[in-house]
Amino acid sequence: MNYNKKTVKDIDVKGKKVLLRCDFNVPMAKDGSGVITDDKRIRAALPTIQYLLDQGAAVIACSHMGKPVATFDSYKKKQLEKGKDEASITEEKWKKSLAELRMEPVAARLSELLGKPVILADDVVGPDATAKAAALKPGEIMLLQNTRFEKGETKNDPELAKKLAGMAEVYVSDAFGAVHRAHATTAGVAAHLPAVSGFLIQKELDFIGGALANPKRPLVAILGGSKVSSKIGVINNLLEIADTIIIGGGMAYTFSAAQGGKVGDSLLEADWKDYANDMVKKAADKGVKLLLPIDTVIADKFAPDADSKVVKAGEIPDGWQGLDIGPETVKLYCDAVADAGTVIWNGPMGVFEFDKFAVGTKAVAEALSKTSAITIIGGGDSAAAVQQLGYADKMSHISTGGGASLEFMEGKELPGVACLLDA
Ligand code: 3PG
Repeated sequence: MNYNKKTVKDIDVKGKKVLLRCDFNVPMAKDGSGVITDDKRIRAALPTIQYLLDQGAAVIACSHMGKPVATFDSYKKKQLEKGKDEASITEEKWKKSLAELRMEPVAARLSELLGKPVILADDVVGPDATAKAAALKPGEIMLLQNTRFEKGETKNDPELAKKLAGMAEVYVSDAFGAVHRAHATTAGVAAHLPAVSGFLIQKELDFIGGALANPKRPLVAILGGSKVSSKIGVINNLLEIADTIIIGGGMAYTFSAAQGGKVGDSLLEADWKDYANDMVKKAADKGVKLLLPIDTVIADKFAPDADSKVVKAGEIPDGWQGLDIGPETVKLYCDAVADAGTVIWNGPMGVFEFDKFAVGTKAVAEALSKTSAITIIGGGDSAAAVQQLGYADKMSHISTGGGASLEFMEGKELPGVACLLDA
């Protein structure tokens, strides 16, 4: 995939209507109060928005939020699939689920951060959005309603893409978190307008794309998280590129079991043992150093106050489960990071949500904060861990995309990037 894309700086937007796709899919308080619990994604879009406004563009921003179900029939079907009782599925509940995914809280927060009004449309390509877009003046910004309220959005419906394009003269995408989706607002619309990236996508492409295509070596990839099955693509692709691959987190127990180790009650994906062995062999064939835990912190239950002790990897008794890497492993992994040129980290080393089992993840985060290597943190759990542990400002780059950064590291083509003009 070509990561070298035209950006907002390569196109004249003065006096033009710009459709700007952002990823404003922010976490909201569970109580339905409309409180945004983390506005990082809104802040991440500010440089591009501010630049466009300063250039005299009229900005029509849009984003999805959550996974609304666009029709009552589909809502009913999904609830039935979840095992809900038919009588309990009402239109009222469906409407409530949609109301909780409206963009009002995002518009309000964006307005506060920009220090100027954000006009909110009541629909996506309906009469309200079209009229407001037509009346929008240079230097003004409006926000469309949740793009997934249109059922054509996730189907990348060409008619919807045309309607969206009809409101603007230029398309800018800064929604890195959604570039792995081939949807109408992330990909389809680019067929009808000059399409360039914003500063956020450019930064993600520079860091992640740079590390994959032309890394400063040695390239060390630290892969953790609970399941081998969710990281297969990443391990496989990084075995082609990295010099060292470090495995931690729950998935290490599948590797250990594959090599004949005893893993007690630890998380195990028995169906993936052969795969784990294939990866060990592939690493040896390619001369990639593959580091697996040599010791592990085990617990007598999955709980923050569980009894714990350290044992050698592969020697976990029944009734115990591994919840973190052990101290010798911590040393091995931190040493591997110390003289790296680039480190990519995706997935925690243990159950970092429990203080007692956050030691390995914390130590790796600390080692990354001290190395002179370029440090890239994949989105999702590892980004959350780095933030929660207070090391966020010490990393070269923390990706804003969970699924998107994972698919990027898998070497997959990202439809929301492929559709942009090549530089
Ligand atoms: C994310 O939160 O990872 C992005 O906003 C994409 O959301 P999606 O998985 O609902 O497409």
